[in-house]
Amino acid sequence: MEKNSATLNTIQREWWKEAIIYQIYPRSFKDGNGDGIGDLNGIITKLPYLKALGVDVLWLSPCFKSPNADNGYDVSDYEDIMDEFGTMADFDNLLHEVHELGMKLILDLVVNHSSDEHRWFKEARKSKDNPYREFYIWRDEPNDWISFFSGSAWTLDPLTRQYYLHLFVAKQPDLNWENPALRQEIYKMMRFWLDKGVDGFRMDVIPFLSKDTTFADFPAGRKNDLTYYANGPKIHEYLQEMNAEVLSRYDCLTVGEGFGVNAGQANLYVGKNRHELQMIYHFDHAVPRGEEHFITPAPEFNVVQLKAIFSKWDTALGDDGWQNIYWGNHDNPRVLSRFGDVGAYRIESAKMLATLLLTLRGTPSIYQGDELGMTNCPFENIQEYDDIQVKNAYQSLVLGQKKDASTFIKACNQIARDHARTPMQWTDAENAGFTEGKKSWLKLNPNYRYINAAQAQNDPNSVYHYCRVLIQFRKDNPVLVYGNYEDLLPDDPYLWAFRRSLEGFSLMIVANFCGEIQPFPLLSLVERTSLLIGNYNGEGIKDALRPYEVRVLSCWE
Ligand code: GLC
Ligand code: CA
Repeated sequence: MEKNSATLNTIQREWWKEAIIYQIYPRSFKDGNGDGIGDLNGIITKLPYLKALGVDVLWLSPCFKSPNADNGYDVSDYEDIMDEFGTMADFDNLLHEVHELGMKLILDLVVNHSSDEHRWFKEARKSKDNPYREFYIWRDEPNDWISFFSGSAWTLDPLTRQYYLHLFVAKQPDLNWENPALRQEIYKMMRFWLDKGVDGFRMDVIPFLSKDTTFADFPAGRKNDLTYYANGPKIHEYLQEMNAEVLSRYDCLTVGEGFGVNAGQANLYVGKNRHELQMIYHFDHAVPRGEEHFITPAPEFNVVQLKAIFSKWDTALGDDGWQNIYWGNHDNPRVLSRFGDVGAYRIESAKMLATLLLTLRGTPSIYQGDELGMTNCPFENIQEYDDIQVKNAYQSLVLGQKKDASTFIKACNQIARDHARTPMQWTDAENAGFTEGKKSWLKLNPNYRYINAAQAQNDPNSVYHYCRVLIQFRKDNPVLVYGNYEDLLPDDPYLWAFRRSLEGFSLMIVANFCGEIQPFPLLSLVERTSLLIGNYNGEGIKDALRPYEVRVLSCWE
């Protein structure tokens, strides 16, 4: 593959651009003690699996002390471990083992809000002059802001008769970043983890930290528009301060959850000379999950729209900024159920999507189970769901507004976050090898009988082995990290074809997003390519792509 080795003469290499992230949702990854809940010791037993896959950085969704109103995204002690997940000794052990295997570990920084059971909030609500009062946001009267998880974003605290702000549920009071004392506490906590050797942070709803302190109602035309909460007046001041006080002092990875950040604003967060974050991930192709979507889900993106979103972001970031590329995470249903085929072409379409994830420009994140081709779970009724967002939406829409319950369940089957949270499918044994106990905390997807890691590891044609090969391929081909991105067929309704080029050398990736053979209109290009990786055996049809076929081609002029 001589032609294929770019020299990287002109490029400044960064490990966090070259890394491949794997997201672990600890509650659902592996149960180590039989109580039906995933935990840190469970993760430790699966590190060899992750190492063999070839990923570099593990992102742990929150593992801190929490009453679990929102599965750990409500932290009651930032410097301690959630009881269900283990102890600080278990954490230290996990970190040590990850490093021993040459991988890195990043944590989830959830600092827009804490739990109402955090000692700061317990103090704050005691009296108006409590020293912790100003760690949170209090008003005599609420404005018309709504919570992500239904209802008003303000709750009256009976003792002091003021309302506190919570953009999420009432058990997640928003922290007051205007207060320098709060900010210093957060920086201290970040240093605590970095000094332990943690390798960075994924930052939860980071664009929300700064609020417009007038707390006016939603402006005209933006009523109920939750993206309005993002990009507040002091957000960049805070992130630059966090960078100066903490991040710049460590060689750590930072990825912001960019909810509400549009492509034009991105480089304010991640531009080279901004001294804020290294990368963010956007929501332009995420599943919209406002309350109304639990009755009428938004139509899924088609491939023309997807290509337009990726091109827009790629152009906007240019040479200045960087992004994190993802298909799935714990907040979205399974990507395979969205853009692939969960039936006849499950394997092919999962490989096709994995190929895009690992060849687009940006640092890729693989969500646990996507490397096995896991799918949405057939939840049958409201009792089978766990997510607070689903429960609150049910309360509001079905019990409150008397909307049709079956319409609601149908929508959940398309958009609910729990689809990504069903336990990891390790084997075809009882409870999918996730727990030795009787019952897992959330329903298992019944398809674990044939979709599981043991099967995948034994089958050379599995999605898992394909991902493994592709991950190595990306490491061997810096053009996939540093090369520019050019969409070759932006208007084609079925194909996604693009070129990545670096220093006179290029790769072409062509993918068919549908279950039928599609003619490939760039025949002249095909004449000057050769197949490096694909999801079908053999060279295939010369000028057409088979159902969900993807090819990675080397190309020359
Ligand atoms: C982020 C998390 C999500 C959580 C919310 C509140 O969007 O990814 O899971 O519910 O923030 O912390
Ligand atoms: Ca457990």
